[in-house]
Order: sequence, then structure tokens, then C-alpha cells
Amino acid sequence: MPPVSRSPSRSNVASRPDLPGSKGIRLASLCLTLLAVGILLAACAPNAPQDVLDPKGPYAEKADRLWDLTFGTAVVVFFIVEGLLVAALFLFRQKGGKPGNPVQVHHNTKLEIGWTMVPVIILAALAVPSTAAIFEFAAEPENALEVEVTGKQWWWQYRYTESGVMAANELYIPVGRPIRLVLRSEDVIHSFWVPKLGGKQDVVPGHTNLLNIQASVPGEYFGQCAEYCGLSHANMRLRVFAVPPDEFEFWLESQKQNAQPPPGGLTADGQRLFLEGACAGCHAIGGTAAQGQVGPNLTHFASRTTFAGAMFENNTENLRAWLRDAPDMKPGAKMPSGTKELGLSDNDIDALIAYLESLK
Ligand code: CUA
Repeated sequence: MPPVSRSPSRSNVASRPDLPGSKGIRLASLCLTLLAVGILLAACAPNAPQDVLDPKGPYAEKADRLWDLTFGTAVVVFFIVEGLLVAALFLFRQKGGKPGNPVQVHHNTKLEIGWTMVPVIILAALAVPSTAAIFEFAAEPENALEVEVTGKQWWWQYRYTESGVMAANELYIPVGRPIRLVLRSEDVIHSFWVPKLGGKQDVVPGHTNLLNIQASVPGEYFGQCAEYCGLSHANMRLRVFAVPPDEFEFWLESQKQNAQPPPGGLTADGQRLFLEGACAGCHAIGGTAAQGQVGPNLTHFASRTTFAGAMFENNTENLRAWLRDAPDMKPGAKMPSGTKELGLSDNDIDALIAYLESLK
């Protein structure tokens, strides 16, 4: 006996509008659409600190103009293509319940050549300003301030080439002057990115990359590592403080100074602990025997607003938690746990905090 065909006929489907589960599917699609729209709209939050569409310097502005041109072209193309599609659906639909099949059209050479050539022409036209921008971004600007940036797991080291000043995570720059960043990595591939001030550039071990940034408005600009680099990639943040040129010179002068010797008391205990304990093996403090190169240079630690990859506000409470158990606060941090690995007591930690907070 031949098997009975179970495939439903067209009329069968039409007469069963409420297939089991179809309501659930419709509800689920509605929820998913609302969720997607919600997520999309959440991205429109005003004053987002890393908004690429809110450039604050010439390099970021140039990239933004390129985006405007490309996006504008894409929107026009979208409306033309979708408009033609909707028009075709409407004009060539089956009309008035007339029976029979519509005329089948197989190909149209002129149209096919046309819609192949139009995208080629659009892309070629967009390539002209894009290519020009690539060369402009790469050119060495006049009167640039050079800073060597080293990507570490998971923080940023800065060295102002001319003065030799060392900093970490927070980069001070003068407003209105181009900054030439010389990017290197010591471990894995990172990516340096301050969306409001310039483009994004990979930081590759064994290779030097260059990136120009510039701020035309004073302010605090947020950035982050933009290349997955390990456990604390998401915690590898940075800040750029763009200040007027005279304020920058003042900052640079203050950073050139060695650390002040501690006045005594708890601060002096802290320094002793720092120099005799494990801290000095990894951190450097100008004017002391501590010359470690693994962690950030702490000569002017207290002048920074944040620490640990610009993740935590630099205050006593966060510092205490950090010294107690850094890996607990930042997964994969090379800084050992003060209580579990270094055997620091609460008194030791208080002394270290007093010393670190004296490093203005
Ligand atoms: Cu460094 Cu991601």
C-alpha cells in the first residue's frame, strides 16, 4: 500500500490560522523586535563618554565627516532599492483575483549591467575621500608632541619621549597640539582608542604603530582597549585629560620631579614597607631605590584620579580593597593579593596607603 502524503495542501494551511504555537511565536517575535529597538535606542543616550559621533578634535572630526558621507550615501541607496522593491511588489501583484500565472521574466542585460555598475561607481567615489583620509591620518603632523604608549596586561604605560616623564592610564595632552603616539605592546595585541579624539590603532608586540590624536576642546576623554587581549580586556580603560598648553607645561614640570621624601610617621612606615617588600620589585618611584618596571610608575600616583587601568577612582577605600586583594577586583591582574600572597596586615595596608597618597 503506497504511503499517504501528509503534506498539507494550500487550502489546509489557509483554513488553520491558529496553528499550535503560532500565537507564542508572534508574541516572541514582537518581544524580540521591541528588545532590539530598545537596545538600539539605548545607544542614542546623550553625552555618552565614548561617542564616536561627537568628535572633539580634527582627527576625529575628519573620521566623522567620512562617516556622514558614507552613511548618507547608504541611506539614499537603501531608500531607492527598498522603494523600487516595494513599488514592484505593489505594481506587479496579482490583481483582482485574476487566475493564471504572471508573465515570467528571466533576465535583462541592460538592467544587470546597470545595477552592477552603479555600486561599483558609488564605492569608487567613496574610496577617493577614504584613501585621502588614510594618508592624512598617517602623515606626521608638525609640532607634534610624541608619547610612547606601551600596552600591558591590562593597563597603559605612557612615556613622554622628550622629557622622559612616565605616566599610566591617564594621558595629559595640551589642547590644540597634535599628539604623535608611538604604540608598542609587551605581551599581546591591544588596541588604543579614544573615540572623541582620533582613530583606533592596534598595539602589536614586536611592531611599532603610529597614531595621531588631537583635542580642540579642553576636557576629560574616555578611551579603552579595543582588541580582546585576555581576562581583563574590558577593564583596560584609559582617560585623556586635554588641558590648556600652560597648564600642560605646569603638569609636565611637576611630573619631572622626584617623589617627596615622607615626612615621618605612618607615611615613612609605608615607604619602608614599599621599598623592603615586594612592591619595589614591580613599581618604580622616582628618587627612591624602587625601580621595578612590571607595574605602573608610581612617582606621582596621588596626582592620578584613577588606577588599575583607569577602572577605579583613586580614593582610600578603593586603594585599601586593591592592596588587600587586587586579583579579586580585576581578574588576571599581575598585582598579587596583599592578604593572601604577600601577608600584609591591616596596619601594613594603612601605612602603604598613607605613603601612596603622599605621592602627589
Ligand atoms: Cu588590551 Cu584589550
